Amino acid sequence: MISIAIDGPSGAGKSTIAKAVSKKLGFIYVDTGALYRSIGLYVLNKGKDTANQMDVAALLPEINVQIRYVDGAQHVYLNEKDVSDDIRRPPVSMAASNVSAHPEVREFLLNLQRQFAKENNVVMDGRDIGTVVLPNADIKIFLTASSEERARRRYKELTEKGEKVEFEQIHEEIKQRDYNDSHRAIAPLKQADDAILVDTTECTLEESIDKLETVIRSRM
Ligand code: C5P
Repeated sequence: MISIAIDGPSGAGKSTIAKAVSKKLGFIYVDTGALYRSIGLYVLNKGKDTANQMDVAALLPEINVQIRYVDGAQHVYLNEKDVSDDIRRPPVSMAASNVSAHPEVREFLLNLQRQFAKENNVVMDGRDIGTVVLPNADIKIFLTASSEERARRRYKELTEKGEKVEFEQIHEEIKQRDYNDSHRAIAPLKQADDAILVDTTECTLEESIDKLETVIRSRM
């Protein structure tokens, strides 16, 4: 099986870009952020503090997260309910970032991710795929863009969906999540030594997809 690990900060367009590239390669795309988001959503729905390690750890035995593919698209099921849309709501982003800092949560999701890569050719997108989940991935990419550009893209995506959001708030949240993700003690976001850096700040979506596909194909 071939594994391609794609890591990088929030809103770098990883999911859209990686999804498009995996389709071109005929690989299965795995969005691991959706798993952390599902746990964040569960904790929020229980009215518990997502930053409280003990509270979150105590809820894990009640949680069953599964990835399934419907017409080629990844859907995430939380205790048998399809939460693929719910997990995209802005409050869930910060909840996901908070729960992802707890070692129990990372351990809980580790096997699920590894099992997928064992059984399929995957393009797996996350924060610690090349460093922790699949340290022996065949190709590792670190995909990034400036925080302003990432905020602009997220703002556009949310307003197009009809969400009422402020640009400055989105930008602040992105910077806060970058800080959280790269400063947590366990599996922090960082470029693996053997990862290829791909910066898409100056690229359109189409150009980013082409750039990533070219980098990957040149190494296969
Ligand atoms: O990629 P996405 O923004 O959906 O991820 C939501 C949150 O989940 C991130 O801010 C990050 O804290 C966490 N995450 C993680 N490890 C991964 C994927 C996501 O810690 N492999």
